[in-house]
Amino acid sequence: MMTDILLCPACPADLPAILDLNRLAFGGEAEAELVEALLADPAAAPLVNLVLFQGDILRAHVLLSRGWLDEVADGPALSWLAPLAVHPERQGRGLGQALTHAASAMAAEMGQALIFLMGHPGFYPKCGYVPAGAHGFTTPHPLPDGAQPAWMVRELQRGALSHWSGRVRASEPLERPELWGS
Ligand SMILES: CC(C)(COP(=O)(O)OP(=O)(O)OC[C@H]1O[C@@H](n2cnc3c(N)ncnc32)[C@H](O)[C@@H]1OP(=O)(O)O)[C@@H](O)C(=O)NCCC(=O)NCCS
Repeated sequence: MMTDILLCPACPADLPAILDLNRLAFGGEAEAELVEALLADPAAAPLVNLVLFQGDILRAHVLLSRGWLDEVADGPALSWLAPLAVHPERQGRGLGQALTHAASAMAAEMGQALIFLMGHPGFYPKCGYVPAGAHGFTTPHPLPDGAQPAWMVRELQRGALSHWSGRVRASEPLERPELWGS
């Protein structure tokens, strides 16, 4: 049950707890480093940087950063969702879905048309995501074998999915080849 929840934009003082949460949820440094790099990169703005507290303990965090369509002038406003982390002891209780929906609502308010991500195909369809490849979108780097189902998109502006297609680009921290297995 979700009680005593506070869901709000992160403030600078939350950063150490956000980095620790990402280390715990992912079991390594890569996502914590990604958060720091995205927050430091002006090309990654506009950012949605949301935290979910239960009581005064950080339980979940999500970051959205700027994307664009390659070689498309006046393309749609795009975001990338990465990373999303829920504390291991609080997973499977709806926190990830609550945070993902809140991030989408905020991105829609900011005028974003589409959100892209690489993630669990068992989780994100519950939050409105559909296969991005099937709609003609490709990733910044070629995907390794079997990874295609993880490539997903959510439409925030009606018609955006059918109107646009192409190679989706991201800011430098999200395009680092090591994130893409290339
Ligand atoms: C993936 C993650 C964000 C999901 O958040 P959560 O709060 O645990 O998920 P919720 O409780 O909101 O949703 C649970 C539902 O999603 C599904 N789900 C959750 N994690 C999943 C996973 N890794 N693979 C497949 N399905 C998953 C569950 O089966 C469950 O489905 P049900 O409602 O039909 O039973 C969270 O488990 C997490 O932080 N994991 C470690 C870090 C990570 O992998 N982040 C995402 C990177 S794409």
